[in-house]
Amino acid sequence: MENELVLEQVSKKFDDGSLILENIHLRLPRGTKLSILGPSGSGKTTLLRLIAGLETPDSGTIVFNGVSLAACPPYKRNFGMMFQDFALFPHLNVVDNIAYGLKMKGMGKAQIAARVKEMLLMTGLTGFEHRHMDDLSGGERQRVALARTLAPQPRLLMLDEPLSSLDRVLRKRLLLELTSIMSTLNITTIFVTHDHEEAFTAGNRVMIMNQGRIEQTGTPMELVHTPKNQWVKAFLGV
Ligand SMILES: Nc1ncnc2c1ncn2[C@@H]1O[C@H](COP(=O)(O)OP(=O)(O)OP(=O)(O)O)[C@@H](O)[C@H]1O
Ligand SMILES: [Mg+2]
Repeated sequence: MENELVLEQVSKKFDDGSLILENIHLRLPRGTKLSILGPSGSGKTTLLRLIAGLETPDSGTIVFNGVSLAACPPYKRNFGMMFQDFALFPHLNVVDNIAYGLKMKGMGKAQIAARVKEMLLMTGLTGFEHRHMDDLSGGERQRVALARTLAPQPRLLMLDEPLSSLDRVLRKRLLLELTSIMSTLNITTIFVTHDHEEAFTAGNRVMIMNQGRIEQTGTPMELVHTPKNQWVKAFLGV
């Protein structure tokens, strides 16, 4: 299927031999919104890093759009990843932060300007073009990070706790904006969060991880009504 992401039997150990991810199976048809929930250290970020190509699996396969990614370096995957700390460039202004990936791709000046303008509009940043990162609020920085991630039209979007550094009120508002942008773009999105409510709002599927393994994947309704085992039940508090 077009732009489907498939992980089969993916495992990852780190140098000390401890198993961080064990036998991960995952199939995400295009447009899936998957939220990943799990305790700290359960392997959520590692899983995203493997999909992004920033880590290599010890075994198993990662296939996108029918093509194995084993020999595909991160910059050729055209996946967007947004980190908790946003990883913005402090010495660049809003426009240059958003344009960064487009310049890397070798896009022409006029095309870049048009795409940046589109992104500013989509994320509500029009008027902030020349601000530097230090002169923006947390919420504004989050928007810049989202605009920068989406600008190169990634085939897959991965968000690692994108809202966790923001206060509650702002988090709620930005989550709604984020989910609306995600469904407009019909882009497959993996959203990692610690917050159950956030996971259920952002995802049409939710995956629960524990100690490097998938405990259960399902719709929010399935998880709440038919938790697979005692651990999931306790974790979700149902
Ligand atoms: N480069 C590394 N070398 C060795 N161990 C690592 C490395 N990166 C992560 N780990 C370990 O792998 C486990 C999973 O880490 P990971 O960051 O994927 O968890 P997480 O679910 O994202 O946690 P959190 O919710 O706290 O962000 C942790 O025990 C962590 O210490
Ligand atoms: Mg993490």
